[in-house]
Amino acid sequence: MASLGVALIGTGFMGKCHAMAWSHVRPVFGDVPDIRLETLCDVDPELTLKRSREFGFARPETDWRKLIEDERIDVVSITAPNNVHREMAVAFLEAGKHVWCEKPMALTLAEAEAMAEAAKKAKGRTLLGYNYIKNPAVLHARHLITSGVIGDVVHFRGQVDEDYLASPDVPWSKRARIDLWGLGTLGDITCHLVSFAHLLIGDIARVSADMETVVKQRPVPGTNEMREVENEDIAHAIVRFKIGISGTLLSSRAAWGRKSLIRFEVHGTKGMLTFDQERLNELQLYVNEGPEATRGFLLNHLITELLPGTETQGAMANVDPVTGQAAWYDLRVRLTKAAEQESGVTEPLLSPLTPMLAKPPKLLRTGEWFRQRRRAGEQP
Ligand SMILES: NC(=O)c1ccc[n+]([C@@H]2O[C@H](COP(=O)([O-])OP(=O)(O)OC[C@H]3O[C@@H](n4cnc5c(N)ncnc54)[C@H](O)[C@@H]3O)[C@@H](O)[C@H]2O)c1
Repeated sequence: MASLGVALIGTGFMGKCHAMAWSHVRPVFGDVPDIRLETLCDVDPELTLKRSREFGFARPETDWRKLIEDERIDVVSITAPNNVHREMAVAFLEAGKHVWCEKPMALTLAEAEAMAEAAKKAKGRTLLGYNYIKNPAVLHARHLITSGVIGDVVHFRGQVDEDYLASPDVPWSKRARIDLWGLGTLGDITCHLVSFAHLLIGDIARVSADMETVVKQRPVPGTNEMREVENEDIAHAIVRFKIGISGTLLSSRAAWGRKSLIRFEVHGTKGMLTFDQERLNELQLYVNEGPEATRGFLLNHLITELLPGTETQGAMANVDPVTGQAAWYDLRVRLTKAAEQESGVTEPLLSPLTPMLAKPPKLLRTGEWFRQRRRAGEQP
């Protein structure tokens, strides 16, 4: 394919992330088809025109249905609210287009099943917005688990917290409505945690859960009215995975101070792994081996260069420049500087990821990886 025409539906928070991700495909991956930013679609004509100029799209459009038969468009990013995901995704898949649809997939199980059915029959490829599981640190955690480094897995603990609805002063909006937004914290952030659990452990078979709306009413903008919040702020569950092990899932959108906390612990018979999205290049590993005096958590810093043909292509294609994956770039630079100081290596550190993936790095204490490569005469 010589080029790929992109349409983006929705110009809000996630629309901007997708626009930035699309414009980074070539700089990041190099040898890829040309990306043509064809059409930006949103409901407000003025805003759509403004954003299409800012994001670099060729034309604005306010009616998404006009994109269905547009042959200039090969792939559609859907970043509109959850209540329209099914209708849009199914229509574009039936028209032969590729679809990258934001999570949560839909408002109900029946809607999600209809989308899955359409995807099975479609010639286009599909992707859901579970961006956090594309982080190489998380993929590396999965590799360590499946290679038996922590023994047999016995337990999963997960937590996802943010504070975007902690304040009772945040106005009532579509996010509070079941018909437009559906679930509350469950649809916004708990589903990301479930994507981690699914990737690392597998399907969940049983759930015992509870949920609560902390801020029960919110002020309606421009009025003196307070209106009811229809969905949950907090949700937590104890779960049983299909493979038989237990787990806990905790989540809140009203947890002051938390900006993008998504953490997990995977406990095994020989050790444990932990990860926290707020320190997204670090994976902590404890293996119950070696002399007791030196036993402890190893910090596995994954400083990676993204090369075509590796598993991390997905990570970059799925890069979320505002909510986390973008921080990866910044953090990478910061970590590189820290590693320079620690290792005494002054030339630019480009860590080739390809060999890391082909043969996962030995688990080394921070900086040791660089020192070893330096000693071996390799460019770290
Ligand atoms: N993957 C992630 O980490 C992540 C993070 C945040 C949001 N999301 C998801 O992204 C989606 C959008 O969330 P957001 O926070 O960007 O919301 P938002 O309200 O900021 O933006 C949604 C945009 O869609 C537009 N829109 C609504 N109906 C439309 C229609 N019929 N046609 C065209 N445009 C329409 C709205 O005008 C608005 O500009 C949601 O599904 C949300 O769950 C994912």
